Amino acid sequence: MSDKVPVIAIDGTAASGKGTLAMELCRQLMWYRLDSGLLYRIVGYMLRENDVSLEDQVALQDFLLDSLTIDVSWEDTTAQNQSAVVSIAVDIEGGEKVRVSGVDVTRTIRSNEIAKLASRVATMEAVRSCLIPVQRSFRHAPGLVADGRDMGTVVFPDAVVKIFLTANLAERARRRQRQLSLDDKSLAKLEDSLRQRDQQDMERELAPLRPALDAIHLDSSELTIDQMTQRAIEICHHHSIA
Ligand code: DC
Repeated sequence: MSDKVPVIAIDGTAASGKGTLAMELCRQLMWYRLDSGLLYRIVGYMLRENDVSLEDQVALQDFLLDSLTIDVSWEDTTAQNQSAVVSIAVDIEGGEKVRVSGVDVTRTIRSNEIAKLASRVATMEAVRSCLIPVQRSFRHAPGLVADGRDMGTVVFPDAVVKIFLTANLAERARRRQRQLSLDDKSLAKLEDSLRQRDQQDMERELAPLRPALDAIHLDSSELTIDQMTQRAIEICHHHSIA
């Protein structure tokens, strides 16, 4: 077994339950969490706030290199680093708080609009390579639960457990509707935007959404949160975790 901090990688389609499962595992194992989608959302949000055109590769590179400092702190979600533009505070049970120049934007970056922007910036090589070291810096003892699209394939290929989580489109739209407290009229639109986002995430050239060869597939459509977590815990036990 590797002497590196162990990682559980959870990849899958949008709103398939990755975040919920990651949080539950963090609570039970007392491990840290990396919500990698959050980082792509932050980049999308920052580019929009700073009027950086996604078409202008030079301006984009300059912005990523010079203006996007992301600081990560552990244990205390009220802590903030004054020198970093973006600060992410994570606690041992999977909680997170994002501040941009001191302002809490944790809720703002969860919007559907920022999600679409995140999926677009996630196709860009400059963005993906800038975020690789940031994501790996989350590997913190006693362990990390990392969720996203390329955790098991690119960022943590040595993860001890790799889960590929899916759920049918209608169920995923309902979950996103509840999460964003939207009414029933929004369902068709949500399905549409999830479908488009999945397609963009699966068809992109770089680190496309796909299961790692050694990933275990789990369909959460018909499972309660407890059942889904139980299945994942069984998989972890099987790999000598917990
Ligand atoms: O998980 P999420 O919905 O917050 O992710 C937002 C977008 O970020 C998603 O549509 C694709 C991108 N993403 C990615 O390309 N790679 C990851 N590891 C995580 C997210």
